[in-house]
Amino acid sequence: MTLKFVVMSDLHVMPKGELSMTLDTGARLEEAINAVVERYADADFCILAGDLADLGQPEAYEYLKAIIARLPIPVHITLGNHDRRPAFLEVFGDDFAIETGKVDKVIDIKGYRIILLDSSEPGRVDGVLEAVQLDWLRARLAEAMDRPVIVVLHHNANALHIRSDDIRMLEPADFIAALKTHPDIRQVIAGHVHITSTASWHGLPFTTLAGGHYSVSFNVDQPEAPIRRIDGPGQMAVVIGTPDRTTVLFEDFIDGNATIGMIEGPRVVRQAAE
Ligand SMILES: [Fe+2]
Repeated sequence: MTLKFVVMSDLHVMPKGELSMTLDTGARLEEAINAVVERYADADFCILAGDLADLGQPEAYEYLKAIIARLPIPVHITLGNHDRRPAFLEVFGDDFAIETGKVDKVIDIKGYRIILLDSSEPGRVDGVLEAVQLDWLRARLAEAMDRPVIVVLHHNANALHIRSDDIRMLEPADFIAALKTHPDIRQVIAGHVHITSTASWHGLPFTTLAGGHYSVSFNVDQPEAPIRRIDGPGQMAVVIGTPDRTTVLFEDFIDGNATIGMIEGPRVVRQAAE
């Protein structure tokens, strides 16, 4: 009974025919869907982890909805700082906003609990979890003390020593304290920064994926240094969960790297000396 799910983030979809930062983000999302259809059609579900629409227009959400209709697996969604919650709910339906008033969700599957948190806050670029969400999170964690938990949200809570550290979740203390009430947090997965990273912080594992939009060069601990926007990779994460192991793989569905050979057939391993 192995859990498998795909995380996409930072889709930045525009109304059909319009570009974002020179990129056709709708076409890039189509590439991501192709990868799921070809290689992950057996996954349990797909999560879209925010920045779904670049400018939050209803037409962009309509276009997004049309594109993801081709996904062969269920879709779960939360929002990022580029999203506009009223426009999203207008297109996708009010049921996506739960009792917290935000687009949070809990999924119980194959011995795991997955918790989606909506860290977007109108008018802000950094991430915020409101008190009602933190109460909700603590309650959902308390219900699942016997199971491993994976949290997915848009904003990274941990600093990454890069320029965008000033737009992460700037006040994460209560979030961390809530997570620490649970004995088995397997991953906290975010997008937002448009780069791939892994970290351990307060004894918890944090991951970011580069997502579907441009990625960025970074200059470690040089917040004033210029950074380059790079048109690839288009990247999604593939999360695999067994009772004792949780693995995050990164699939670059747009990478620009040529294949230089194939590894096929049985492995040839030198026998260890007696
Ligand atoms: Fe983004």
